[in-house]
Amino acid sequence: EKGGFPSFMEKEIFDQPAAVADTLLGRSDADGRLTLDELRIDAEELTKISKIVVLACGTSAYAGSVAKYAIESWCRIPVEVELSHEFRYREPIVDENTLIVSISQSGETMDTLMAVRYAKEQGAKTMSICNTNGSTIPRESDAVLYTHAGPEIAVASTKAFLAQITATYLLGLYLAQLRGNLFQGQIKDILADLGKIPSKIQDILDRSDEIKELARSMADASSVLFLGRHVGYPVAMEGALKLKEIAYIHAEGFAAGELKHGPIALIDDGQPVFVVVPSPRGRDSLHSKVVSNIQEVRARGAKTLVIAEDGDDSVKDFSEWVFYVPETPTLLMPLLATVPLQIFACELASAKGFDVDQPRNLAKSVTVE
Ligand code: F6R
Repeated sequence: EKGGFPSFMEKEIFDQPAAVADTLLGRSDADGRLTLDELRIDAEELTKISKIVVLACGTSAYAGSVAKYAIESWCRIPVEVELSHEFRYREPIVDENTLIVSISQSGETMDTLMAVRYAKEQGAKTMSICNTNGSTIPRESDAVLYTHAGPEIAVASTKAFLAQITATYLLGLYLAQLRGNLFQGQIKDILADLGKIPSKIQDILDRSDEIKELARSMADASSVLFLGRHVGYPVAMEGALKLKEIAYIHAEGFAAGELKHGPIALIDDGQPVFVVVPSPRGRDSLHSKVVSNIQEVRARGAKTLVIAEDGDDSVKDFSEWVFYVPETPTLLMPLLATVPLQIFACELASAKGFDVDQPRNLAKSVTVE
């Protein structure tokens, strides 16, 4: 069943072109008009929404953090992202104009289920982005947008994450279409860019040996840091989480702008730091800020491991190692930049002899509080 791969996790990393393609499939027509019929929330009601609150845990919450950048940019609706277990124990302000979007691979995460129930009691509309047909969270929600990643067996989430991000983009574009925030031509262009993502992921997978070699050389690392800005920030968080979960290495993700507010004190000679660099074709200040961050940590002895966009020559001089991902608009970049970090964690954990599919102390679905 592992399709010739040594682990389910590696197989699922390699399933990602299909996970994204299948999640996009059949959800728009040739003119780029989205038809999310399955949603079951009235178009009229959706146009009245004044706030979106994303509820999720772990990797699924990082998908929500990516969604915040895209949905706010495309729809101009404020998006809050909150861990389900934090949301449910405060007194959150939600009402009938709030759209709750829960994100859960399993659809059974107890904290997310309880948070959705609570929001529903307060009168909010609830939508579930879920990978498991007929599971509890989508059954109890007003609407559901299924991710079509297929069953995810490995405990650490990979293909479900990319499928979740894809689904939130579809939701964002659908809301922009309903509310008239984007022209139809703009939506069509973004969908076309999304349509190219599966083959770009494949391009990364085809070069996985470059990443695996680095991972094997770092099997003795005791701590790895990950930096990102904008959509690169949740990617950095996810890269760190993967490494903690399956390789049991101390890893931390930071917003690159926070460096000087504390974390830079951690940097000393040889400290490995992954940096997710945004496209140089995007907002210029964003790219140049991250390049300065690479220089700052390098000057303090860090071993800089850089994920950058094809053709970005500005990072070479400051990096020990660079992995190039294909060009794509900044908002879609997490679908590419995450992949090398998944491969890195999987290979490093395997090199240490760990069972990457069944990491210690973790369960695939967390049905207890
Ligand atoms: C990380 C991971 C967990 C889950 C989290 C939420 O690799 O698998 O962090 O993402 O437990 O699970 P779901 O999405 O099933 O609600």
